[in-house]
Amino acid sequence: MTYVKDAWYVAAWSCDMETAKPLAVSILGEPIVLYRSEGGRWVALEDRCVHRLAPLSLGRCEGDRLRCMYHGLLYDTDGRVAEIPGQDLIPAQARVRAYPIVERHSWLWIWMGDPALADEALIPPAVGYDNPDFILGHGQLDYAAEARLINDNLLDFSHLSYVHANSFGAGPQFAASLPKIEPLERGIRYTRWMTNTKGQSSRKSDTPVDSFMTYDFLIPGVLLMWSGNYPLGTAEALGFAPPRIDDAVAGVTFTSQAVTPMTDKTSRYFFNWGPHRRHGDEALRDQLMALADMAFGEDKVMIEAQQKVIDGTVDPRIMPTAHDKGVTIFNRLVERLAAKDMAAPRQERMG
Ligand code: FES
Ligand SMILES: [Fe+2]
Repeated sequence: MTYVKDAWYVAAWSCDMETAKPLAVSILGEPIVLYRSEGGRWVALEDRCVHRLAPLSLGRCEGDRLRCMYHGLLYDTDGRVAEIPGQDLIPAQARVRAYPIVERHSWLWIWMGDPALADEALIPPAVGYDNPDFILGHGQLDYAAEARLINDNLLDFSHLSYVHANSFGAGPQFAASLPKIEPLERGIRYTRWMTNTKGQSSRKSDTPVDSFMTYDFLIPGVLLMWSGNYPLGTAEALGFAPPRIDDAVAGVTFTSQAVTPMTDKTSRYFFNWGPHRRHGDEALRDQLMALADMAFGEDKVMIEAQQKVIDGTVDPRIMPTAHDKGVTIFNRLVERLAAKDMAAPRQERMG
């Protein structure tokens, strides 16, 4: 699998974590244990004891430290063994890898590359519970499919007309026209106006409006999208340029979504969604989350089935269409950054 290592990957919802309760996750095929220490500190370590390879995620938190509950080796937050029961000497190689971990926008982000390059400025500007403007609900979904296929899905919204014909309710006209796609330094930007429409999903309207939606899809696989309704004629008055979010008259929602490769063929998909406070309430949030559950279930059925066909195909090739512009630009960027990862000199890793 080709993925960028020097990037922040979403590992969990911070609000779903209990203090001093380790959680086992897998990112890019690496077993990782993460926990919030009794002192309130976030720690992410290789989930594999140096003694006999027991998972540290079955261990016990002691203050900031984590004890392997097989034979009791005690680990410091930097991955070094601090105590070996019955032995005074602690060998220099008695350590596991420690990963940079940051809580931001309600997510726990883990840096999978060289720790020396872990730059918090590269964390995508998702919207989480710390943003007072939005009323959000959240969820996650595990896929028996490689993350790349989910990224491809999120980079080509023409599937809304077909996969989501019964949920988001985008008509065939949605796939019949093309959005604007622009490259960004670490992703792509999608923008589209729909003029004189009664909207769809979160933006249904009794009277015709101009409806706008935009998202950034960023390395390693993070989608940040908002949309809203504007008075008829707004799109033309702006020359089809993006509007200001504050000028929307109705229907403003935000969703943050993250795709994390767990192994070669499994992924975890994290999402939130909800209305702007001026455009909705908790009841609308719950309706949107029910809609999201239905729609993301539709994606999962299609993508897992697609994965099976790919796996059963000797030399799988694809044939891009006009809607694949975003997919193509993003996947080229992934290839480029992944190649840079490989070329850069790295500090020696443990484990
Ligand atoms: S396997 Fe962890 S202490 Fe023995
Ligand atoms: Fe979808």
